[in-house]
Amino acid sequence: MSVIKYWGKRDEKLILAMNESISVTFDPTHLCTTTTVAVSPVFDRDRMWLNGKEMSLSGRRYQNCLREIRARANDVEDETKGIKIAKNDWEKLHVHISSNNNFPTAAGLASSASGFACLVFALAKLMNVQEDNGKLSAIARQGSGSACRSLHGGFVKWVMGKEEDGSDSIAVQLVDEKYWDDLVIIIAVVSSQQKETSSSSGMLQTVETSTLMEYRAKEVVPKRVIEMEEAIKNRDFSTFARLTCAENNQFHAICLDTSPPIFYMNDTSHRIISCVEKWNRSVGTPQAAYTCDAGPNVVLMARDREAATLLLRRLLFHFPPNSTDIDSYVVGDKLILKDAGV
Ligand code: ADP
Ligand code: DP6
Ligand code: CO
Repeated sequence: MSVIKYWGKRDEKLILAMNESISVTFDPTHLCTTTTVAVSPVFDRDRMWLNGKEMSLSGRRYQNCLREIRARANDVEDETKGIKIAKNDWEKLHVHISSNNNFPTAAGLASSASGFACLVFALAKLMNVQEDNGKLSAIARQGSGSACRSLHGGFVKWVMGKEEDGSDSIAVQLVDEKYWDDLVIIIAVVSSQQKETSSSSGMLQTVETSTLMEYRAKEVVPKRVIEMEEAIKNRDFSTFARLTCAENNQFHAICLDTSPPIFYMNDTSHRIISCVEKWNRSVGTPQAAYTCDAGPNVVLMARDREAATLLLRRLLFHFPPNSTDIDSYVVGDKLILKDAGV
């Protein structure tokens, strides 16, 4: 989930962003993609099933990932299984891919990020690609921009890069998943419905029509990226929360500044945000940060376990699960559920 948002490309084909971005990768025990790749000489073409349904692999993004991984394939030999595939054979062999998200697809919970990161990683493993996750991130980026960040755990930055071919527009890990242990993530699943405007077409429309976009990318984000990096490294929750919430609100403001306007958050997302804002103000120091990507689902990040328990109690009171407003919550830690009385 991004805390500094990527929205707008400077190169549509290579998927290069107009500004740098930062995200946190969710713990895979809760939200994840599982991708299995099979190879066989009897397969006559590459095929893929997403959440059990066959989909076309003809799109440029899938083709780019397959081509780039195949170009880096190596010999694979496993005597115990009697497998021997020479480096050059990979060009002729076809794959069958099955990928499943255990969370809503195309609903603003970063399924394209999780999906393409997992796809590139799985293909690289199968074909014995030796590149590190940084290099693989430049391939995942060509599937979906946000996917480059999801090859690393913890907090991750997608750097702009200078090369025209995009080879240095990669993701770097800022801190690993254990670094900020206190932070607790709660996801409010407001709607599992597929969004009306995909991220790719939404951001293209914003670049073409929003007058605020350029100001955001050039003047606002570069400063915020520096401040955010600093806050993450110092585990400075107050600054982190201020920036995360401000980013969320500016991102949705430029969506509204797009013509026709794009509404990703809905009334429930707004009410959840107000609830967090009121609580933070009543305490005096931020207890929780909120952010939504391109969809109505709200990701909440609490200062610590105690704050997470109090936040969850508040949410359950105002927005009971399985109600008309909200589907469910995804909570990082069972102890918090117990403390919150669930
Ligand atoms: P999200 O907010 O969920 O990232 P996007 O509009 O960015 O939504 O992207 C959704 C698209 O990402 C899907 O329509 C599909 O093409 C692709 N996608 C989602 N999950 C996977 C997956 N597991 N493997 C490959 N591609 C995926
Ligand atoms: C709002 O990476 O899904 O989640 O590169 O066109 O596939 P494409 O778009 P995508 O956009 C993500 C947008 C965002 C913000 C973010 O993740 O930084
Ligand atoms: Co996406």
